[in-house]
Amino acid sequence: MNKVIAIYPGSFDPPTNGHLDLIERGSKIFDELVVAILRNAEKDPLFSLAERRLMLQALTSHFKNVRVDTFEGLTVDYAAKVKASAVLRGIRALSDYEYELQMALMNRKLQPELETVFMMPAEQYSYVSSRLVREVAQLGGSITDLVPEMVEQRLREKLDPAIKLQNARKTRTGKRA
Ligand code: PNS
Repeated sequence: MNKVIAIYPGSFDPPTNGHLDLIERGSKIFDELVVAILRNAEKDPLFSLAERRLMLQALTSHFKNVRVDTFEGLTVDYAAKVKASAVLRGIRALSDYEYELQMALMNRKLQPELETVFMMPAEQYSYVSSRLVREVAQLGGSITDLVPEMVEQRLREKLDPAIKLQNARKTRTGKRA
């Protein structure tokens, strides 16, 4: 029987516990799951593509059937490139539904063979989004329990000017930041 490959596309800026919850659920129902980070030149991301890729690779390395990649252009074209037959997306609340339905139907119009599969993350993550995590972290609030420890640490490094300065000095003197 053919392997069922799915892609999980998104910006992941930064990856949250909600994303990881969905990756774990997806890894259980698909033979192979490709976490696909959109390379979007228009947006001004907090984390570079390389940083997001490294974080996601480290956070998903224990899933043997999950890999991380980046893509640009249409999701349907990327899905065809990696021979995926499904797109995995998370729906947290009713408010997600309209946007997700539009995307799923547009993708179906572009590629009728590609199915979108919606999964619900655990309820404790139903209000967690990358945008809110960024905002709360930027304003000094706690994001513990909303993102993995590694992401919390990277956010702190990125947003705390003292740590930024320390890292810049280490880089200049050749030490690893
Ligand atoms: O989780 P996000 O950040 O809202 O992800 C949005 C994403 C990457 C799934 C969406 O923007 C996308 O698919 N972009 C690729 C361009 C595309 O295919 N557009 C037409 C389909 S709606």
